Amino acid sequence: MSERLDLQGRHIVLGLTGGIACYKSAELVRLLVKAGASVQVVMTEAAEAFITPVTLQALSGRSVYTSQWDAREPNVMAHINLSRQADAVLIAPASADFIAKLAQGRADELLSLLCLARPAERCGLLVAPAMNREMWAHPATQRNVAQIAADGAHILGPGCGDQACGETGDGRMLEPAELLADVVAFFQPRLLAGRRVLITAGPTFEPIDPVRGITNHSSGKMGFALARAAAEAGAQVTLVAGPVHLPTPRGAVERIDVMTASQMHDAVLPRAAAHDVFIATAAVADWRPASLSEHKIKKEGKKVAPTFELTENPDILAAVAALPQPPYCVGFAAESENLLAHARAKLQRKRLPLIVGNLGPATFGRDDNALLLVDAQGHAVLPADGSTADKLTLARSLVAEIARRLEHARA
Ligand code: C5P
Repeated sequence: MSERLDLQGRHIVLGLTGGIACYKSAELVRLLVKAGASVQVVMTEAAEAFITPVTLQALSGRSVYTSQWDAREPNVMAHINLSRQADAVLIAPASADFIAKLAQGRADELLSLLCLARPAERCGLLVAPAMNREMWAHPATQRNVAQIAADGAHILGPGCGDQACGETGDGRMLEPAELLADVVAFFQPRLLAGRRVLITAGPTFEPIDPVRGITNHSSGKMGFALARAAAEAGAQVTLVAGPVHLPTPRGAVERIDVMTASQMHDAVLPRAAAHDVFIATAAVADWRPASLSEHKIKKEGKKVAPTFELTENPDILAAVAALPQPPYCVGFAAESENLLAHARAKLQRKRLPLIVGNLGPATFGRDDNALLLVDAQGHAVLPADGSTADKLTLARSLVAEIARRLEHARA
């Protein structure tokens, strides 16, 4: 897959403060640059004890700033110039001491000075704490973190796990890939802020005996991309996933793993009414074996192959759409031909406001796809120019379409 350029055109000031997690910031610079951002690194004196400006200059392609008295700036106002050019200031790692400084509004060196001087309404402050677990848990640190969050900073993490000091607990800086995902999410429009979105994803697996079953080729990628896109857009997401090997998207995503269609049904139905939107991307098996063999069905001693009686699975989407006050229901139709006709028939049969069609064999497991949106008003393709796009790009466009329809319904 080609590199995603989610940060194309964004300028980020990356501030490093004192902490062993500085070594991860080298990789972070690389990821930010690969995602299309221009990165200006600013380091405190303590950060320079952990990693040299040379490394960060080489990775960012820009000389690093370390002093408020930097004579390269004709007006000798690096704190003003750097913060005016930035779309966001990201402090990673943010030490306990630096967070305390931010909380107090102190400004005795370049990085804290530019945080204070930044135009807050158009330049966000993202803070990735990194410290020993006792330092993180200390009431003073918690007070300071709460204060800077109340002042508008976005706190990224911290993570939990092994620490450089040999202890284990909360306080680790997030991994560079996690920080990248959070920075990308920060720049997405909050189209679903305050909304709750329920998504089914992946295949289901209908057991025949303890080792065999009926399933399909759905990878879950579209549903997981939608969960990520909805969370980026500010929604609280519940993701009910069939058996897939995909990491849970970052952010406000509660994941419930299920195996069979019945389990998916039982996970979805009691929760559906508490959500504003239900997106059924799962490729739910239509039938399951009528009975489950307690032990493995053996080949030995059988002259004819066993046969199975099948019974129909519940239609989860139709059941949610038939609730007295259903969420806004979006169905998926994976077809091998006549996409528009089949999608429209499904829209009517399941009484849905919106159905998203795609060509089944062409999409399962793939990263690129094209979607056909069908509703009572008509139909439209995504991407709009008739090309294909990766599933996260499609998911963001679909989230925007859903948000527009929700606003319309509300108005
Ligand atoms: O009925 P059909 O499988 O063609 O419709 C596909 C849509 O219905 C998808 O959105 C799928 O997630 C949903 N579906 C469901 N429960 C089923 C079968 C399909 O929610 N048992």
